[in-house]
Amino acid sequence: MDSLLSPLDQDLAPAEGERFLALASAYLTAAREGAGAVSTPLSRDELYALFDEPLPADGVPLAELVRRLAADVVPNSIHLAHPMYMGHQMSPPLPAAIWMEPLIGALNQSTAVAEMSPAATAIETRVIRWMCALAGFGQKAGGTLTTGGTEASFTALLAARNALIPDAWENGVGDNPPAIVCGEHAHYAVTRAAGELGLGMRRTVSVPSRGYRMAPDALAATLDRLKAEDVPVMAVVATAGSTATGSFDDLEAIGLLCSERGLWLHVDGAHGASALLSEKHRYRLKGIEHARTIAWDPHKMMLIPLGTGMVLARDEGDLERAFAQSAPYLFHEGGKERRWDQGTRSFMCSRRADALKLWAALQRYGSRRIGLLYDHLCATAHRLWDLIGERDDFVALHEPESNILCFRWVGAGNLPDEALDDVNLRAREAWNRERGWITTTVLDDVRVLRVTAMNPRTTEREQREMLDGVARIATGIAAVE
Ligand SMILES: Cc1ncc(COP(=O)(O)O)c(C=O)c1O
Repeated sequence: MDSLLSPLDQDLAPAEGERFLALASAYLTAAREGAGAVSTPLSRDELYALFDEPLPADGVPLAELVRRLAADVVPNSIHLAHPMYMGHQMSPPLPAAIWMEPLIGALNQSTAVAEMSPAATAIETRVIRWMCALAGFGQKAGGTLTTGGTEASFTALLAARNALIPDAWENGVGDNPPAIVCGEHAHYAVTRAAGELGLGMRRTVSVPSRGYRMAPDALAATLDRLKAEDVPVMAVVATAGSTATGSFDDLEAIGLLCSERGLWLHVDGAHGASALLSEKHRYRLKGIEHARTIAWDPHKMMLIPLGTGMVLARDEGDLERAFAQSAPYLFHEGGKERRWDQGTRSFMCSRRADALKLWAALQRYGSRRIGLLYDHLCATAHRLWDLIGERDDFVALHEPESNILCFRWVGAGNLPDEALDDVNLRAREAWNRERGWITTTVLDDVRVLRVTAMNPRTTEREQREMLDGVARIATGIAAVE
């Protein structure tokens, strides 16, 4: 009979690991050729049926497992590496960062505690300091990696709550909870954080926009009104790269307003803070140094695999105070020295060493090339805007400020708005089943199609094919409406 450990020993052979690398590499190579559809033709029920089986009590050899992955998992995944993928803000990741995943798993360093992740903690600290410097933060700055932008903004707003109500953990937020003020197009991470932090989602006050950007004069009026109503303001959240349209709030104007009034400015740069790496687009973040905290997702525009988010704080002490708890079995460092343990600044206890893949991508490609990729993706979205401008059957809702564009099929212009809403929604679904992948949202009260150019291999050819395909399907739907 096998010893308990014999399958583990067998699986450690390099040839076994290479089966997985070969599968990943075959997927990446095939997907980028652009044949077939981006996603699976199977329905949710069919997918569930594929994996509806009893808990395996006894294992199978790795070769069989890899065969199953090749047959059932890879073809039924959404292929972000396919150039017709133009969907949500998920990237086809940079190869060097992908190849770090097995090493991160093999080393399995937990970066809560420096003694459990000696090199990884040093690397995370180094990467965070690079990013803080790019944001114009000084020597006291710091931060931590997060699972993504939602956790990053939650962490930042927890720190803001702590600054305003230092005893909130013991006594709650009282009966006049403070408000969070944000633009009307802010990500739901903000209202979610307001709920999680005990303020109540209704304490999120939204400010109207002009051109999809928070209007600074409307912000000033909102702050005046809240003051008059005796509602304390915990933080103002500006968005740098909004989810719907990729628009950037005016950080300079908003930052000055917050500085004058002594308010905490949090910049949700989950999507757009990567513009700091771009010579061409950095200007869109002018004023970011006014922020007290920043959310920034390398797993979006830096093309790092999930989940690699970051929260940066102008004063890393803000994060430490927000999470001040005693855990003598973990955190032994103390005194006047800076604590290396990232767990003292983070929501998580056990934490993956995702900083390694971000660091590896920077080592391999350099910040300059990653910034150029950012420019390339923005130029891709801009070219789609140009192509739409050449046609009568589509209208664009805005000129892209980054790599996101919302547009709408309007056909010959003779259908009412509600009918167009329906046609656009159904055309998108059919197109995604047939070939490509685009998303949809509601903007200015109408249903729109939305493209996020995340794949650097998407060319004009794929964009023309997408427009022609969606138009063909929409025309067919409209004809039978
Ligand atoms: C502006 C903005 N903030 C936050 C998030 C949430 O980021 P994550 O999905 O990494 O939690 C997104 C994601 O779409 C976003 O666009």
